[in-house]
Amino acid sequence: MNVIITGANRGIGLELTKRFCEQKASVFALCRHSSSELNHLKSIGVKVFEGVDVTKSETLKQVSKELSGVELDVLVCNAGILKDESMKTMDSIDADSCLEQFNVNALGPLRTFAAFRPHLKKAAKVMMITSRMGSITDNSSGGHVGYRMSKCALNIATISLKHEFQSDGFVFGLFHPGWVQTEMTGKTGHLTPEESSRLLIKRLSELNAQTSGSFWHPEGEILPW
Ligand SMILES: NC(=O)c1ccc[n+]([C@@H]2O[C@H](COP(=O)([O-])OP(=O)(O)OC[C@H]3O[C@@H](n4cnc5c(N)ncnc54)[C@H](OP(=O)(O)O)[C@@H]3O)[C@@H](O)[C@H]2O)c1
Repeated sequence: MNVIITGANRGIGLELTKRFCEQKASVFALCRHSSSELNHLKSIGVKVFEGVDVTKSETLKQVSKELSGVELDVLVCNAGILKDESMKTMDSIDADSCLEQFNVNALGPLRTFAAFRPHLKKAAKVMMITSRMGSITDNSSGGHVGYRMSKCALNIATISLKHEFQSDGFVFGLFHPGWVQTEMTGKTGHLTPEESSRLLIKRLSELNAQTSGSFWHPEGEILPW
């Protein structure tokens, strides 16, 4: 099994990389800058590509070129950012912050999909790491306006991809990883990155043509839009 993953140097991306290695997958780990933990995985065959920024198509396309002839079973769009914004504490909307999150969280996965689409096998799985914070129904607390908008946009974009690429056999999953103890959350949360990644791998195994386009909680519950 060949897997490619963005944001593989830390957090959930790093742990997913480890889980795929446990499954004896060949992992292509993309990141802006590697980490000692990710470098350590080179000894078990992980191929690390640095300088890959999901806001820069050319960096993704460069890797795509380097992988000429490689066919992928799984594409994981994991890279993401979270900015803290509450409209209550702002005089005006922080458009730069909203745009930055939109660029990374919504457009980043689209750029990644576009760059690696030629490598995807028929029936390849595309794993979009989204967030429950992108659910409109589930938004009972407010705040994080830009982050919520960006993940909501990712969700609807993924449904469009599902329809457009059905005939290619690609299947798409939208996966909330839980509230996870990573740098993004200041190491708070209910799940360790390892626990989250184990649940995500289980959910990925359930992804098929029938379940394509579902928005999953890591425990298996289908989340409302
Ligand atoms: N942690 C949670 O509770 C939680 C909950 C819901 C959803 N999520 C989602 O889960 C995913 C992983 O988050 P995490 O918790 O593991 O966060 P994290 O520890 O902050 O890691 C974020 C990863 O994304 C990468 N990244 C950010 N901007 C990038 C860019 N422009 N180009 C390439 N890589 C970029 C980071 O790379 P650098 O090291 O170069 O910055 C890092 O590898 C994100 O999509 C996040 O929205 C997390």
